[in-house]
Amino acid sequence: MDFNLKQYLTEKQELVNRFLNLILQQFNQKHELVMAMDHSLMAGGKRLRPVLSMAAAQACGKDFLIALPACCAIEMIHTYSLIHDDLPAMDNDDLRRGLPTCHKKFCEATAILAGDALLTHAFNIMSQPEQVFKLYPDSQTRIKLISKISQAAGIQGMVEGQMLDMQSFQPKQKNDLDHLNKIHALKTGKMITVSVEAGALSAGADPETIEKLIVYADKIGLAFQVVDDILNIEGDPEIMGKAAGSDALNEKMTFPAVIGLDESKKYAEKLIDDAIEAISNFDEAATPLRAIAGYIINRNH
Ligand code: IPE
Ligand code: IPE
Ligand code: MG
Ligand code: MG
Repeated sequence: MDFNLKQYLTEKQELVNRFLNLILQQFNQKHELVMAMDHSLMAGGKRLRPVLSMAAAQACGKDFLIALPACCAIEMIHTYSLIHDDLPAMDNDDLRRGLPTCHKKFCEATAILAGDALLTHAFNIMSQPEQVFKLYPDSQTRIKLISKISQAAGIQGMVEGQMLDMQSFQPKQKNDLDHLNKIHALKTGKMITVSVEAGALSAGADPETIEKLIVYADKIGLAFQVVDDILNIEGDPEIMGKAAGSDALNEKMTFPAVIGLDESKKYAEKLIDDAIEAISNFDEAATPLRAIAGYIINRNH
């Protein structure tokens, strides 16, 4: 099948941007909190998680539009996590998505609250999708989605991963690899996995299909963070829209720090191969998922 990934990504990104914009339009645009939410949400993220949700719904043989409510909720939660991740108390970064970080553009208190508002409203969207979307999963499916997404984002997921990340420092011994895998699986992996799962759930997929997609997602989620660590060393800040070199500066426990740069690259490649293998019995509707796996390892931002 002739498949143009660049075009696919652009189309899906534009679609998500349109709906995220619609969501923000419900609020007073002159309100400082809304301006801060807008600043970070519409700053031009890659929208990888929403694209994965839509590609997963498609791989399950459904119209990808059914995944849009979950896509928007997940991207709002992801953006909140970035706003808080950049705060002085956390990574203390000045640049995000090519723009000043939320707390630099506004102030710390506003950035904290903009993050809070994005997180909270994500679940409001899932409970009342009819306010924005024409197509959405039935209420029982939505409760399941809310449960899965809140689990992935919270104390057993991204927030716990961020906590472990904050407590991590460069290891003296190589056997910290298990711990590092755990941090990455939680802080980045869970939200990526739930993106794929949410797409499949929205599409009404059966448990066996979902199970295979979860294996795919776990692998690409970990690979994504390994590549993020590599880009923090080798990436171009201009292209990435965020600082490079910060992990070493903050003595962060990263894959290159623990197993070296070359081994990290090999590890990421192996994870991507495993991910593609996990969905080998899917038909051509899974072409976008396969292509996205390849993109994760070749990305430069
Ligand atoms: C950055 O995520 C933070 C990580 C979890 C590694 P992305 O690289 O997906 O950032 P955006 O959404 O494109 O800005
Ligand atoms: C961010 O991880 C992960 C979350 C926001 C959950 P990092 O701190 O490693 O990512 P960047 O480099 O700031 O995007
Ligand atoms: Mg961080
Ligand atoms: Mg950071």
